[in-house]
Amino acid sequence: MRVLDAGAGPGKLCCIGALVTNASWYGVERDLSLVETAAESAEALDVSACAQFRSANVAAVDWDEFDSVYLFNPFEAALVGERTAHLTAWTQYVGEVAGAEAKLASLRPGARVVTYHGFGGEMPSSFARLSSEQVGVGSLDLWEKLPVTSSAPARWRASR
Ligand SMILES: C[S@@+](CC[C@H](N)C(=O)[O-])C[C@H]1O[C@@H](n2cnc3c(N)ncnc32)[C@H](O)[C@@H]1O
Repeated sequence: MRVLDAGAGPGKLCCIGALVTNASWYGVERDLSLVETAAESAEALDVSACAQFRSANVAAVDWDEFDSVYLFNPFEAALVGERTAHLTAWTQYVGEVAGAEAKLASLRPGARVVTYHGFGGEMPSSFARLSSEQVGVGSLDLWEKLPVTSSAPARWRASR
């Protein structure tokens, strides 16, 4: 199982995940100082082999390489503080959310996604919500990409 934490911050999810599961955890974070903190934590906890971190924009990562993706409302960070009033911050936010919707839509069937506080957009209709619970002030939701169903007319499906 390969898990992507898209917007990994200081790496809490990946490090704890590596401690308590057999999965491989990959944190992608654009703030280099947070990536360094995450890598130091993984080293200190002796989980560096299973919890790896990379400084990058999640838009540059192929999400389809992973079995599962975690999104803790990452893109809102662009709006924090005084930048909220800036049109450029909102333009960036809207673009990143749209990019995430497209990446989610292209995940393979069976891929699982967990969102906490959402991600700012709509889950593509190709996902089913398997569970939802309130954790603190946010909603923690588990989604699974549905199998592809043929949209070909019945007469075509029958003859192929
Ligand atoms: C709310 S924090 C979540 C941290 C972590 N996933 C956790 O559960 O503790 C969101 C993080 O996403 C990062 N982020 C936002 N947009 C990003 C992007 N386009 N590419 C990479 N990281 C991004 C922010 O810098 C921030 O550290």
